[in-house]
Amino acid sequence: ALPRDLVGRKVVVSAGGTREPLDPVRFLGNRSSGKQGYALARVAAQRGAEVTLVAGNTADLADPAGARVLRVGSARELRDAMHAESAGADVVVMAAAVADFRPVALSDSKIKKSGQEPAPIKLTTNPDILVELVRARPAGQVVVGFAAETGDATGDVLHHGRAKLGRKGCDLLVVNAVGDGKAFEVEDNAGWLLAADGSETPIPHGSKTQLAVAVWNAILPLLDSCARL
Ligand code: PMT
Repeated sequence: ALPRDLVGRKVVVSAGGTREPLDPVRFLGNRSSGKQGYALARVAAQRGAEVTLVAGNTADLADPAGARVLRVGSARELRDAMHAESAGADVVVMAAAVADFRPVALSDSKIKKSGQEPAPIKLTTNPDILVELVRARPAGQVVVGFAAETGDATGDVLHHGRAKLGRKGCDLLVVNAVGDGKAFEVEDNAGWLLAADGSETPIPHGSKTQLAVAVWNAILPLLDSCARL
């Protein structure tokens, strides 16, 4: 059984992938299943937290027992929900895979074949929700990001992860190496926990539930140190 060490804590977790609409039938999306974010929400609820799960597109997953689940589609809908829900939270975890770009224009009708070269899809940059949440956070709130990185070697993945932790400004960044039966879509995950104080802890290959337990174990002392201030 898990310890009830998150009783009295309010947490917000995002999960799944965003869908950026192009026309009434098409979107740009990604392979996130939501399994990692759901595991984080489920474990937090089991440990006693009051959990809000903001879910984008996911595989067919059961709602985590005890969590309030809000559904969103695009990155901008996710952004609005995260800002609204995170205001009074002790912890915010961004496990969602957010599209960095969206189509500039949303066509009212289905885009037709022209018989000529396909028209290029023009893209614009989405807001970086994690960076915004870090900037907007109330005192004492712990903000956790995820990074899905590809690379030939552990060194590459960690190098990208360290740079991302600096850019995003969150307290913890969970770096997962994509591929090899880990991260997107599959049941397992593995990676490193990079903390703002420079500490780096490997998370061994295991289930997404095991990774979720490790992440909450790392968040707890940060909450305690805030409470002591
Ligand atoms: O859903 P699963 O199939 O279980 O897979 C889990 C996962 C691999 C999707 C998950 O563990 C994960 O790594 N999620 C983040 C993936 C990602 O989009 O990483 P990123 O490096 O693009 O983004 C870094 C961080 O910034 C993330 O916390 C992301 O939520 C956030 N972000 C990114 C872009 C953006 N515009 N706004 C954001 O807030």
